[in-house]
Amino acid sequence: MTPFESFDHLEDLDAESKYLVHKAKEATQHAYAPYSRFQVGAALMLEDGTVVVGANQENASYPLCMCAERVALYTAAVLHTGKRITKMAIAAHKKNHKELARASSCGACRQVLLEFEHRQKSPIETVMLGPDQKWVKCTSAAALVPLGFNQDHLDLA
Ligand code: THU
Repeated sequence: MTPFESFDHLEDLDAESKYLVHKAKEATQHAYAPYSRFQVGAALMLEDGTVVVGANQENASYPLCMCAERVALYTAAVLHTGKRITKMAIAAHKKNHKELARASSCGACRQVLLEFEHRQKSPIETVMLGPDQKWVKCTSAAALVPLGFNQDHLDLA
């Protein structure tokens, strides 16, 4: 079975995913993106129903820009230490545009998500707007990072 599921309309998603996309959309308001003008929001669902959001934070020193996903993940790690994350939704739009843009997590964020998933030993589902304005749900970070690198490879024992 494929780990990816595609939906033509947001309304076709399950209620929790829709809610989380709504929260991610809201979080785009907190983006600081004067350079790319691409405002991204991420929303995480924790195991107890808590929602944690993040938005991209840019810097005049471009490589220091931080994606919405990592802002949300690191916030959850500090404010809700030890609580498992069940799902992450991402939403993005260009500044002053209402229409949502395609927003697929970058490789760095996928790698960070993979570490969270590995640590908590349970899958994190993702919901993003993929190609052709279709919503894509993926069952786990591992599926987003095939042959991914994790702490097991370091043989730290
Ligand atoms: N960005 C995110 O926040 N998340 C993604 O998944 C992709 C890219 C941000 C980084 C930068 O502030 C802007 O979008 C343009 O790359």
